[in-house]
Amino acid sequence: MLKVGLVGARGHTGRELVAILSRRSDMVLAFASSRAMAGEPVKKLAPEAPEGLLFEALGPQDVATRGADAVILALPNGEAAPYVAAIEAAAPQTIIVDLSADYRFDDAWIYGLPELCGRERLKGATRISNPGCYATAGQLCMHPVRDLLAGAAHLFGVSGYSGAGTTPSRKNDLAALRDNLMPYALTGHLHEREMSRHLGHEVRFSPHVAAFFRGITLTAQLSFAEPVTLAAFKSRYEAAYGGEPLIALSDSIPEIRDGQEIPGAVVGGWSIAEDGRHAVVVCALDNLLKGAAVQAVQNLALASGLDELAGIVN
Ligand SMILES: NC(=O)c1ccc[n+]([C@@H]2O[C@H](COP(=O)([O-])OP(=O)(O)OC[C@H]3O[C@@H](n4cnc5c(N)ncnc54)[C@H](OP(=O)(O)O)[C@@H]3O)[C@@H](O)[C@H]2O)c1
Repeated sequence: MLKVGLVGARGHTGRELVAILSRRSDMVLAFASSRAMAGEPVKKLAPEAPEGLLFEALGPQDVATRGADAVILALPNGEAAPYVAAIEAAAPQTIIVDLSADYRFDDAWIYGLPELCGRERLKGATRISNPGCYATAGQLCMHPVRDLLAGAAHLFGVSGYSGAGTTPSRKNDLAALRDNLMPYALTGHLHEREMSRHLGHEVRFSPHVAAFFRGITLTAQLSFAEPVTLAAFKSRYEAAYGGEPLIALSDSIPEIRDGQEIPGAVVGGWSIAEDGRHAVVVCALDNLLKGAAVQAVQNLALASGLDELAGIVN
């Protein structure tokens, strides 16, 4: 039984992680850390949580010395380092899966997007950086045709406001979002750099947030060096994802609703310009699931040699 500690457990992704971990018979939620909800039952937030488990306000040293086999960090960007340092000092064999962007650019960590990075790389890994939600959708769109691309890819994304976390900001303020679509970080978004780095190809990314709670659609505008037929374009995705249990392919254009509350992603809506040099593909997924918690549990399971999809697909 893998003992898993969760830090940042009352957040949007933390809540989903509690649910998935509670559905597994080979992992147990050993502790759930939150300062704001310390002393309250985890069940109050996530009904699936183990009976009697209470939120605890645990600092880095507490987390490192609780005897967990694995720790999942679901903290805002910039907060992981003290936890990582304490674990490295006290219990370096502990598997760490970090959901933030803090280690996505660090070569000492495995960047865990199992369908693309390869499951073998994750086996036995102890430092795993979980990809961003938009970055997952963008890479799923681009990876199968990466070798055909010419020039920067242009990606347009829309996310529900849970993508902005629980710390109040304009991006999760329902009054500001009502009847609105909010573009933000239109150059240099973290996920733009993340995708460019891990794909080895230049990406320009335009993120937006809207008034629905969860889900992402990402539309990728791609240019090719040589003309490509629609059949050849689509066949790249069939070859890449045909055997992937969490990736569904769709001729119709994936919409937000297609990706909400499903564990995986829907990729499709392939379309190609008359000259064969410009194409579009769309991905829809749930930012809190394949964009965060599902991927983290896939990564942890693969690192530990456990069933990748238990608690994720029933
Ligand atoms: N939301 C998404 O769609 C999504 C998708 C992919 C990746 N991510 C990444 O996943 C991480 C978590 O995102 P989220 O949306 O779940 O965030 P969130 O809803 O804002 O939750 C953050 C959690 O971290 C805790 N926390 C905040 N500041 C802390 C600090 N200084 N020290 C210790 N604990 C602290 C909070 O609990 P207490 O304040 O009670 O301690 C809360 O449980 C972020 O790095 C985010 O970028 C999010």
